[in-house]
Amino acid sequence: MRESVVVGNWKMHKTIAESIRLVTELKGLLSGKRDTVTVVAPPFTALNSVSIALQNSHLKLAAQNVHQAAQGAYTGEISASMLLDAGCSYVILGHSERRLYFAETNDTVNKKLRLALDEGLAPIMCIGERQEERDAGRTEEVLTIQLTEGLKGLRVQNLAPLIVAYEPVWAIGTGKNATPELAQEAHATIRKHLGDMFGSVFANGLRILYGGSVNAENIPGYVDLPDLDGVLVGGASLNSESFAKIVTSFD
Ligand code: PGA
Repeated sequence: MRESVVVGNWKMHKTIAESIRLVTELKGLLSGKRDTVTVVAPPFTALNSVSIALQNSHLKLAAQNVHQAAQGAYTGEISASMLLDAGCSYVILGHSERRLYFAETNDTVNKKLRLALDEGLAPIMCIGERQEERDAGRTEEVLTIQLTEGLKGLRVQNLAPLIVAYEPVWAIGTGKNATPELAQEAHATIRKHLGDMFGSVFANGLRILYGGSVNAENIPGYVDLPDLDGVLVGGASLNSESFAKIVTSFD
């Protein structure tokens, strides 16, 4: 049995005070024993305050990015050890907004993944096709290239913490969520390709999340899909009630 994982990606939203308010509400709404791993990814500035606010709760903390070098003269960047120091246990890597606006490539994602795994941060690796790639029938090809290049040179024995998030670019922030059938098809493709790369034991244990316009209304369609192990939520994670409803759908 794979554990379900629900991640809230707050993107560039929330001040420190707003962040503390949101996680305090979430702690209340999600108190008690839960089987679903629940992760929030606030902006860098709020990470440490949120980490303190989350003490004595089962909620986990993620960063939205990390630099690929362990340390050095990289003005404006944040290292894995700084994220660990701030209380993070996960990091989102290769989100399509990072690929689109900050020139991240599969190669950058590969370097960041290696560093995150070396330093003990669990990577949430985002992949997904653009609309024109889907229209051209290239979805499978795009996903397999992103996986092959992003995970190049990594050894299966180091990959246990890895989580993959399938996030079709056309579904992110658009209100146009992928249908459950389409998500299942992509997730099965991802699991199969990773089975070819790293063996079936690894692939069968890997958590694969769906992301793209997930909300409290459409979540019931996803929870029972055989190859879907959770969701990565953007907009709907900014509200405690909708995010808590998404989390509890997996319990
Ligand atoms: P969305 O974002 O839920 O607002 O579509 C998802 C994401 O970017 O991870």
